[in-house]
Amino acid sequence: RHHPVNACLTPICSLYGTAVTTVEGIGSTTTRLHPVQERIAKCHGTQCGFCTPGMVMSMYALLRNHPEPTLDQLTDALGGNLCRCTGYRPIIDACKTFCKASGCCQSRENGACCLNQGINGLAELPEGDETSPELYSEEEFLPLDPTQELIFPPELMIMAEKQQLKTRVFRGDRMTWISPVTLKELVEVKFKHPQAPIVMGNTSVGPAVKFKGVFHPIIISPDRIEELCVISQDRDGLTLGAGLSLDQVKDILVAVVQKLPEEKTQTYRALLKHLRTLAGSQIRNMAVWGHIVSRHLDSDLNPLLAVGNCTLHLLSTERQIPLSEQFLRKCPDADLKPQEVLVSVTIPCSRKWEFVSAFRQAQRHQNALAIVNSGMRVLFREGGDIIKELSILYGGVGATTIGAKNSCQKLIGR
Ligand SMILES: Cc1cc2nc3c(=O)[nH]c(=O)nc-3n(C[C@H](O)[C@H](O)[C@H](O)COP(=O)(O)OP(=O)(O)OC[C@H]3O[C@@H](n4cnc5c(N)ncnc54)[C@H](O)[C@@H]3O)c2cc1C
Ligand code: FES
Repeated sequence: RHHPVNACLTPICSLYGTAVTTVEGIGSTTTRLHPVQERIAKCHGTQCGFCTPGMVMSMYALLRNHPEPTLDQLTDALGGNLCRCTGYRPIIDACKTFCKASGCCQSRENGACCLNQGINGLAELPEGDETSPELYSEEEFLPLDPTQELIFPPELMIMAEKQQLKTRVFRGDRMTWISPVTLKELVEVKFKHPQAPIVMGNTSVGPAVKFKGVFHPIIISPDRIEELCVISQDRDGLTLGAGLSLDQVKDILVAVVQKLPEEKTQTYRALLKHLRTLAGSQIRNMAVWGHIVSRHLDSDLNPLLAVGNCTLHLLSTERQIPLSEQFLRKCPDADLKPQEVLVSVTIPCSRKWEFVSAFRQAQRHQNALAIVNSGMRVLFREGGDIIKELSILYGGVGATTIGAKNSCQKLIGR
């Protein structure tokens, strides 16, 4: 599987056994440009060029997984890349040339959209005028040939096959990286180093190290443990392993809401709404579900998980605790113990007459922490409009996620 990540947040130790492809690796002007690079250049998708390597790699990763992406996949893939110069239009135009359907009606003679005046929005030229109104000519583009792409290095495959399943340790001058392979080992390591963070995504620990001077002499990275990637579903709910990436969780929820009746999927739909706008695809590829126990105050997911009555499954104590408002407010008696590890989270199905909503106000649709967010759940008395249960939680507005307890109490029964 190919996925784009933010280089600045990816710990070098986490790359053991993986193949890293950089923008220099896929093509250059001294060798041969990759079709993505060529089309972005020919479609005038670069000005200062600052964002271009990132745009190219996001598009490259998308094409490795989906050689003919849809427009939705394209916009989602580029959601984590910001450009200050081009206004995005020429970048999207270049990338759209890889899409199967162009997204327009193509009803004009030349296959252009009926909304376009002439080509590229310009008025049609008088007959005989040879000025070309086209910004680029698709005939000049290099074809995208998936068979010519880089392959996963056979040496790494052999290495993976021969590899013994045992805890991997990297020791540096200042810090140690421990990567256990079984739950038992993970629990033992965490017991020995209760203050060491569990890092799989590093998108929150990483910035704290970089920008706030936080130092962790030991990091535990359980990125090869099967139980942390569990996906199980029964009639009451869905249990998702703490090691699944946010993008994987998004895909799982998409599949679940398609299968189950709408009344059972209220919490899943609300979570999906936030997962689609949480950061960008690079961060969602790296960040794992388990981070919710860190309870960062801007978390879009936690207010929803709390109103949705989710349960946290923990080790080493083998206990289950509710992801409640008390937990999010960091009340000591609802807290995780330092040696505890989150293994999975159960999200119950919603019931008939129950509705869950997600709200979020931020400066941008994606890639911006919420100024305020909220999760709301209401259960009406069967067949009526009297409120039986109500919970509302807000994030981003206080030191922790907070509940609107008084309002809820006043509204119940009305
Ligand atoms: C550019 C950017 C944009 C963002 N936008 C949003 C946004 O719009 N909405 C939003 O809600 N968030 C946003 N975030 C925050 C994002 O949600 C978090 O950075 C991310 O989810 C953290 O996940 P991670 O796996 O990378 O955590 P890490 O940094 O690896 O770890 C975070 C913490 O979780 C703990 N932890 C992880 N797994 C476990 C486990 N199994 N058991 C016990 N403890 C565990 C670790 O010990 C650590 O303390 C954004 C972040 C970035 C960088
Ligand atoms: S071309 Fe300048 S930031 Fe995108």
